[in-house]
Amino acid sequence: MSVPNTRNAVQSLIDSPSSPPIASRIHPNETPPTQAQIDIVRYTWERVSEIHLEEDDPAVSATHAFGLAFYDALFKLDPSLKPLFTNIFQQARALAGMVSYIARSPKVTGPNKPRSSPSYNDGCGMSTAKLEKVPTIREINARKRKETNATTFEELVSSAAASNPKAEDNEEGDPEQLLYKLRELGARHYFYNVEPRYLALVGPAVLSALKTRLGKEFLPEVAEAWTRAHAYAAYHMKIGLESQAAWEQGRRKSASMKMNSGSSNAHHSGLKSNCVIQ
Ligand code: HEM
Repeated sequence: MSVPNTRNAVQSLIDSPSSPPIASRIHPNETPPTQAQIDIVRYTWERVSEIHLEEDDPAVSATHAFGLAFYDALFKLDPSLKPLFTNIFQQARALAGMVSYIARSPKVTGPNKPRSSPSYNDGCGMSTAKLEKVPTIREINARKRKETNATTFEELVSSAAASNPKAEDNEEGDPEQLLYKLRELGARHYFYNVEPRYLALVGPAVLSALKTRLGKEFLPEVAEAWTRAHAYAAYHMKIGLESQAAWEQGRRKSASMKMNSGSSNAHHSGLKSNCVIQ
């Protein structure tokens, strides 16, 4: 499968005289989004959830429609990726759910802050986590909106971009927990036959989907915030994916060494998968 020159792909998909300039940090990047950019991502996601286009299937939610627009853009970038997916309709919904999760970045409580939540804890012996009732994106936005005089989405985005919030202001989020979730998600993508280089296509596809869904409200600050947020997410997914690949490779190597030395013992070589992310 070929990955086209991403910069060109971004330009052809998104750039037009009326489009915001595309940020250069389109590849996986470890720089986390600023608090102002996190705020903009949350405002955008709420806005995306409100916009229904004429051509939308009425049975599909607006965020689900965003997911579908994302896969449309992804397959325009590389049609050979299609066979990786079994059901795009369901997948688009899963993607929208994950974007909501990332944007909300829930807080985890407990005496020893766990690294993984129970749902993804597949027998690796990690302690279980209790997910605190976290505010929804809408609730977080409503609280922040009160601090501004903004009435429209554009005004809200401009006021967030002009503000200078400190990282500590983000008391809803838990960056460490989010980071582990992203690495686990990346590790699972190993089993979906995703190669690390495909992650560079996520940025252009996300921006294209946002442009489709937001129309005129696809502002330069929105493009910038989502570019940074997705590059950060993709960076940690890539670490998870590469760690899982390396672990699987080591497992295969050790199994074949045991076979060759004649001391193969199937039940002893049965290492558990999904324990890579420590
Ligand atoms: C920021 C980037 C991405 C996010 C947030 C994301 C999110 C997800 C989620 C939530 C799932 C559902 C299953 C699960 O939770 O394990 C999933 C599955 C999957 N993803 Fe991704 N993904 C991303 C990038 C990619 C890329 C770049 C590709 C390949 C081009 C890809 C291919 C797949 C495939 C093949 C599946 C399984 C679908 C199926 O079984 O039909 N993903 N992804």
